[in-house]
Amino acid sequence: MTLFAERSSPGLKCLPALLLVVIAVGCGGEFPQSTLHPTADFGYEVDSLFRIIFWWAVVVFVVVEGGLIYIIFRFRERPGSPEPRRIHGSTLLEVAWTLAPALVLVFIAVPTIRTIINVSGRAPDDALVIDVIGHQWWWEYRYLDFNITTANEVHVPQGRTVQFRMTSVDVIHSFWVPKMGGKRDVLPGRTTYIAFKPDSIGTFYGQCAEFCGVSHANMRLRLMVDSPSEFEDWIRQEQNPPPPKESLDTEAQRGFEVFTAVRDPGNHSCLACHVIEGVTFGVLGPNLTHVGGRTTIAGGILPMTADGLAEWLRDPSRVKPGSLMPDIDLTEEEVSALVAYLSTLR
Ligand code: CUA
Repeated sequence: MTLFAERSSPGLKCLPALLLVVIAVGCGGEFPQSTLHPTADFGYEVDSLFRIIFWWAVVVFVVVEGGLIYIIFRFRERPGSPEPRRIHGSTLLEVAWTLAPALVLVFIAVPTIRTIINVSGRAPDDALVIDVIGHQWWWEYRYLDFNITTANEVHVPQGRTVQFRMTSVDVIHSFWVPKMGGKRDVLPGRTTYIAFKPDSIGTFYGQCAEFCGVSHANMRLRLMVDSPSEFEDWIRQEQNPPPPKESLDTEAQRGFEVFTAVRDPGNHSCLACHVIEGVTFGVLGPNLTHVGGRTTIAGGILPMTADGLAEWLRDPSRVKPGSLMPDIDLTEEEVSALVAYLSTLR
């Protein structure tokens, strides 16, 4: 001990305290993306499998380490003890330590396979089907039953199974809302499925979980679990057409004009990429018909506020490196007008 203290640097002496702090940090906080507090059937399945395997690991640890410690003490050398007898092989032991792990593996394999089947993405016929399309770097959601298209924030009702049918228009992404359950790859040219039944109302954070380019970390999502009546209200709200230009105030009318203007050649225009139902028909970027009713923009990285919108419009690639939305050299006057107009799209 003295040796250690004399030789070690002060940094090394702090190491145990530092480790303790790092471990303790893991004990607090809200953990919005923790998989350890699931709130949907998929998550419960995975959690229960995790617990089964954990307790088997505890049994193996206790038996192996307990046996080791017992043997070390029981058969240690004592003063005057005779030379141990030489032995070789024990059929009973060999059979026991081959059979026991094999049995443990069976007890782990059966629930594992059952869980894999249960979370494969199949959903009952009455499930709510939502098409998910992965883009670099945002999520598109289509509710075909209701003729609604939205982005990044997906609303679902509490207590009803949701079937996500997923594909990608560019590279491989992965859809993941940790509190609902596991992740699933979203692949170009293929359809993959994930299904779960959320049981708690609230906003749940998610994230693309497959490296998909420079802004992979900025490809976030929110899952809003609404009560069934709130969900119906949201559907009705989303089905409303945007306000007509004549009903807007002067600033918002100016924003409408900026949004629908065809800008100089070589410059990009908003209308080339974005849909606002009945106003513009671009398809490359997110549908903005109800952008003002979302809580976030830009793949869930900026709050949907006047400041957030303005920051995004001024220079998208500074907020989200590699963003396909170009900087179209808007003047500050145009930015304010667009903010006023987009905020009316609720
Ligand atoms: Cu999309 Cu990572």
